[in-house]
Amino acid sequence: MSGRGAVFLRRARAVLGSTMLAAAVFLLAGAADGARLRKDGMRQMAEAAKTIDSIFNERVPFDGGAIRRAADVLAAHSGAAMATAFERPDGSSTVDWEELARDRTRFDALASELNELARLFGEAVADAESLTPDLRMRPQDGAPGGSLLGARRSQVPAGNQPAEHLFHMMLETCTRCHAAFRRAG
Ligand code: HEC
Repeated sequence: MSGRGAVFLRRARAVLGSTMLAAAVFLLAGAADGARLRKDGMRQMAEAAKTIDSIFNERVPFDGGAIRRAADVLAAHSGAAMATAFERPDGSSTVDWEELARDRTRFDALASELNELARLFGEAVADAESLTPDLRMRPQDGAPGGSLLGARRSQVPAGNQPAEHLFHMMLETCTRCHAAFRRAG
């Protein structure tokens, strides 16, 4: 090979090498970012759930704006956004990626169940300005953790449900998904 050809090849390798390295670093950084964003979303949902819980337990005065914002946070981080956030294994040790690969359908169903419940909850509190009895769970709504716990079919209820009942169902959905797909790390 001529001297020129060899130089060209060396340069090409150098450029290619560094491009591939850059791509790998970029992918790794992307994965770490994805995991960080996902955990951040989960933490925001936990905060939102705490806000709603304090309102129903009357530890804080009713705040229509706060409860509706909390509903929005839960809707925004569940459903398709949540399914996408867990699309590819990214090295997070607190996700059971094996189980996720085995039963992606169930994972996505739980994510979308949470989203539907959050939307219904948002509708139930849309005009609420105080903690009126119609927002409250009724005895016939049943305690969370009833016989359907662990069942595969969606638990999204038909018809109007009191906001508090929808909230309890959301918490059940969090728990069922964590039991199946989250690991201690
Ligand atoms: C469809 C499944 C699913 C649903 C529904 C779900 N989670 Fe999670 N959650 C996970 C998984 C998996 C992890 C571990 C994520 C990781 O380590 O990247 C997690 C992690 C978390 C964490 C820890 C985040 C951190 O900082 O490491 C919190 C807090 C959390 N979830 C709260 C909630 C709350 C509150 C709800 C319900 C309102 C909820 N999650 C609903 C699957 C789910």
